[in-house]
Amino acid sequence: MKLPNKIAIVTGASKGLGASFSKHLCEKDVTVYGIGRSESDLNRLSTEFGSRFIPVILDVSDRNAVENWFSETFNESKLPDILINNAGFGYVSKVEDTPPEVWDSMMAVNVTAVFDFTRLAVPFMKMNPETCHIINVASVAGLIGNPSLTAYNASKFAIRGFSDALMKEVRNDGIKVTCMFPGSIETSFFDQLEMKGSPNKLNPDEIARLVVFLLETSSNFLVDEITLRPLIPS
Ligand SMILES: NC(=O)c1ccc[n+]([C@@H]2O[C@H](COP(=O)([O-])OP(=O)(O)OC[C@H]3O[C@@H](n4cnc5c(N)ncnc54)[C@H](OP(=O)(O)O)[C@@H]3O)[C@@H](O)[C@H]2O)c1
Repeated sequence: MKLPNKIAIVTGASKGLGASFSKHLCEKDVTVYGIGRSESDLNRLSTEFGSRFIPVILDVSDRNAVENWFSETFNESKLPDILINNAGFGYVSKVEDTPPEVWDSMMAVNVTAVFDFTRLAVPFMKMNPETCHIINVASVAGLIGNPSLTAYNASKFAIRGFSDALMKEVRNDGIKVTCMFPGSIETSFFDQLEMKGSPNKLNPDEIARLVVFLLETSSNFLVDEITLRPLIPS
């Protein structure tokens, strides 16, 4: 895909990995709809990244708000080219200590919102004569289970299954699907967690440069799954 003047939706754009994706895409002249709940963070990024970055204050788990935003934003003459399903959070606790509300909200943000953004973007992408690309951010926690991460593991394993099925479903419509499985990344993800991840974390900007590379591959070249790890984890 040739990136200049393409349109991207990035969920969880207010900080961390999503902010890095947005920055690198804006630098490539992509218009980025950056989605998150934190208005102040998104407005600060809009000052930093310029008019290519359009802040969208939205809770991805608010289905009505997400549906309204899609119908107000896109139409036959304004079609999204890129969707990066990145918003997510973690929670560390033994299964019997995990509050059911945390489980529900983790599934709503980490899984159901990925379904909603995808089901709403795909009809527009099918109208798009250009090759489109959906990137889902899972985790190495979507490949292997860890004690005290049952909810997070379940949410990220779900993203792997969803992505694999979706890839096979929409490839003939000219829509690429890539599922990413990163290890620990240097973001605020661990701030609220009892688990601190690897001391040698991945740099989000390096992951964003990889995403730009994946997006810029030629139309018949698909990387469907990709795992990223610190070389020396501890
Ligand atoms: N950091 C790691 O080590 C690591 C490793 C593997 C995978 N991941 C995955 O990478 C993704 C990005 O995480 P990160 O490391 O960048 O974490 P982060 O710095 O905590 O950022 C999380 C982002 O998700 C957004 N978000 C969370 N809940 C939301 C909601 N209900 N509605 C809208 N936006 C919401 C946050 O925005 P607001 O707070 O403004 O809503 C924020 O922009 C997540 O899916 C995470 O599971 C992270």
